[in-house]
Amino acid sequence: MKKVYIETYGCQMNEYDSEIIRSILIANDYEFTQSESEADVVIFNTCSVRENAHEKMYGRLGEVKHVKAANKKVVVGLLGCMAQNLRGNLKTQEKLVDIFAGPDSYKHLPDMIQSVLETGQKTYNFSLSEYEDYSDVYPRRIPGINAWLAVMRGCDNFCTFCVVPYTRGRERSRSPQSVISEVEKLAEEGFKQVTLLGQNVNSYRFDNKDFADLMLMVSEVDGIERIRFTSPHPKDFPEKLLRGMAENPNICKHVHLPLQSGNNRILDLMGRNYTRKDYLRLVENIRKTIPEAALTTDIVVGFSSETEDEFEDSYQVMKDVQFDSAFIFKYSERKNTIAVRKYPDDVPPDKKTARIVRLNELQKNNSLLKNKEAIGKTYQVLVESTSKKKPDEWMGRTDSNKIVIFQKGQFKAGDLIQVKINKVSANTLFGTVIKNN
Ligand code: 5AD
Ligand code: SF4
Repeated sequence: MKKVYIETYGCQMNEYDSEIIRSILIANDYEFTQSESEADVVIFNTCSVRENAHEKMYGRLGEVKHVKAANKKVVVGLLGCMAQNLRGNLKTQEKLVDIFAGPDSYKHLPDMIQSVLETGQKTYNFSLSEYEDYSDVYPRRIPGINAWLAVMRGCDNFCTFCVVPYTRGRERSRSPQSVISEVEKLAEEGFKQVTLLGQNVNSYRFDNKDFADLMLMVSEVDGIERIRFTSPHPKDFPEKLLRGMAENPNICKHVHLPLQSGNNRILDLMGRNYTRKDYLRLVENIRKTIPEAALTTDIVVGFSSETEDEFEDSYQVMKDVQFDSAFIFKYSERKNTIAVRKYPDDVPPDKKTARIVRLNELQKNNSLLKNKEAIGKTYQVLVESTSKKKPDEWMGRTDSNKIVIFQKGQFKAGDLIQVKINKVSANTLFGTVIKNN
């Protein structure tokens, strides 16, 4: 049996795709190894969302040179978004890569590997499909607490900065039946949490079912304690989904709501289809309907022509909303996007850096203030895994997705317990177990 080693970069969708890839290759008599040096096939499932993802990959490919020098027969595959985006036009490291495959061509991988092994010739597959949803492939998940499940693939939003519509193609949704039967199987296998994934989950449509309908169907499956989803788009967050979240205890009270910018002119240039006021109104509605809901976001600083005053609008929205946490990025110009054609990347790098530093400082203070509100309160925590820092402590999460650290005691991963918080940092809550429930 040939051995495959895989490394995954980028988002949760890529984590899920790697599980699809694992499943397809295992069905074709490959086995997986944790050791790159003993592998016959080395696969990188890559990201393209910002240039630093590419840089990281080029660095990693530089290291692969040594693996290839030690074993000339090793087959190297570059898969996913970066492969699709560059279509094989890598810098010098191109020589090292035998297989280039985009996100819709994973079913061809066994044939592609076989062909490289037989002929030594490179193979490519960059065809994007309007139909491929991999619903006939049961992902080989790493056993654990959470299971990722993509309910839709691709994106039709075409935000001007974003490469995803070009790397992942057109939007397509999986049938509710296929989702529900997979969730039932996950419950049988012992997964406690399912996170439904999509580039914009609110675009989910299958016959007459929308995403809120799907969430409600999933919430009825026995055995799954927690259901999460990511990401919705602020332009079309439906009332029905909000009510469903409020009424169903197993749907987690956490909304990741990418803001991107707090300035109307920039939002318009980004093609986001909402204003700052629309966003703030939605936040107000979420908090009115679900007062305990956690809100997190993504923000891009230094998009084309963003002035200091326009950046201040993002700062102000962040200050007003008080997000529980935020991912803040410097704008990175991407090949093929609308922005690369229409809007120059003209904010100097030092200005982008100064802006990201300011937002990160603000967010750190916000997160700390928010977390301090938790001191003395008791939360239901789902036990996930051993804490990275101390082997005698568990890491778990609250319903709102906050990380909690506590002494292991007699508990095990997958238990739902009550933890009283006694100390916090900007990113973590620390507590004591009150009871096992
Ligand atoms: N530059 C910087 N950040 C980007 N994102 C998407 N495209 C870009 C880009 N070109 C960010 C957005 C998105 C998150 C996944 O990555 O904030 O929500
Ligand atoms: Fe995921 Fe986007 Fe990166 Fe592709 S480009 S791996 S969709 S974050």
